[in-house]
Amino acid sequence: MSKFFVTTPIYYLNDKPHIGHAYSTFVGDVLARYHRQLGDEVLFTVGTDDNSQKTVQAAAALKQDTAAYADDMAKLWQNTWDESGISYNRFIRTTEADHHKAVYELIAKAEAKGDIYKGDYEGQYCVGHEAFLRPDELVDGKCPEHGTAPEHRKEENYFFRLSKYQQPLLDYITKHPEFVQPESRRNEIVAFIKRGLDDISISRKDPEWGILWPGDKKQAVYVWFDALVNYLTVTGYPKAGFEKLWPADVHIVGKDIIKFHCIYWPAMLMSADLPLPKAVFAHGFFTIEGKKVSKSLGNTIDPVQLAGDYGVDALRYYLLREISMGGDGEFTHARFREVYETELANELGNAVQRVAAMISKYLGGTFGEAAASSHDTGPIRDAMDRFRIDQALNEIWVHVRGINQYIEEEKPWELAKTDKDQLVQVLEQATADLLQVARLLMPFIPATSERIIKTFEGGRVHPEVGILFPKFEDAAAKAS
Ligand code: MSP
Repeated sequence: MSKFFVTTPIYYLNDKPHIGHAYSTFVGDVLARYHRQLGDEVLFTVGTDDNSQKTVQAAAALKQDTAAYADDMAKLWQNTWDESGISYNRFIRTTEADHHKAVYELIAKAEAKGDIYKGDYEGQYCVGHEAFLRPDELVDGKCPEHGTAPEHRKEENYFFRLSKYQQPLLDYITKHPEFVQPESRRNEIVAFIKRGLDDISISRKDPEWGILWPGDKKQAVYVWFDALVNYLTVTGYPKAGFEKLWPADVHIVGKDIIKFHCIYWPAMLMSADLPLPKAVFAHGFFTIEGKKVSKSLGNTIDPVQLAGDYGVDALRYYLLREISMGGDGEFTHARFREVYETELANELGNAVQRVAAMISKYLGGTFGEAAASSHDTGPIRDAMDRFRIDQALNEIWVHVRGINQYIEEEKPWELAKTDKDQLVQVLEQATADLLQVARLLMPFIPATSERIIKTFEGGRVHPEVGILFPKFEDAAAKAS
């Protein structure tokens, strides 16, 4: 049995979950469920990036205590994933004690290597990014992404010798191109490293929040240095046995945070003599009706509400099939409805409905053991090994359409008058195919898959399971 360890980014607490975060989390969940189905021992982790300055600022804006605010928001995030059926093994918060131990251990390792030194830093710090920005990254003195003027910071900090790892990183990526996926992101990272890596400041002064620097209470650990280590914490690091789970098989991240995952993180691991994650997969971004998803635009969509209206599987399916993994995608309500109606209701839902109804009508609701389906699942496996969830879904949908086509061609309603034996065979074959599709779809739309299996459980049809995807309006009306 092999192991499979997949992570999602740990989200900042100051934001509420929106469909962008849901997308990252769904991708991780599909990979986790897929590998569990293969029989792998899976570790799938999600969590929150508590120690950010954003937490402090958001709490202050609400005149709340930072720790209390953090607890409330972490609960909101965890509830969101619980309500969305995310099959995580651990929800990690970076305020937890075992995480602090892991961070300290990594700092000690880097120090022992001579990779940490004290120095002065002066620069423009963007709290939105939780990073210093270079002057050429500013537009009219502001961070173009966050629209805010960065803070001028001049302080004595601890530094990490990132520059030392410039060549080792390039060598590593050349030897292991699959480390950064997809290829377009790899090219971006290689170009970035080739422009030259400066050492990075990994602490900040006057810490009112965050992990205190070991042996120096006047500094706190830089939040990205702290946050990345969560991927080790969840393996039990530095306790013995963590090597059974580390390295991660894949870190799922958005394209906005690849510098941290594909440059800082591997350099930190090299410094600690730890193996690097096998892959970092950077997915693209969703826009909503053509606009960037943003709190200030007020266009964020709450995944829990959407899932409440149409079922979490409808949302999972739409988000996962709409983006070709790695590229960007657009969320529109019109398109969501179209995909719901054509692919989920008319193609998948209808196939199940028709076969079940015909078994009830022509066979008195019961059927015998059908020949196992012989669909080749190789292309699905291949797509999943390349993290191409969208392609895997396309492959499965070929089978879904195939079932509808089979019914159209065999015309059971005519066989009912002419050839009862053939009728039985056709309906049993269609049922076997549907059950195989349900198994294939299990990692992607688990609740629906279970309902399909229940519909045909024990050699008889169970109409009480009900239709899989009700009329689009009805779903919305039910909720309001
Ligand atoms: N806390 C850091 C991550 C630390 S990981 C060690 C962070 N958090 S975040 O709350 O800002 O979440 C960023 C992640 O959310 C992105 O990397 C991406 O995975 C996801 N997305 C946020 N907006 C998104 C879209 N509009 N579309 C798709 N994914 C998006 O960065």
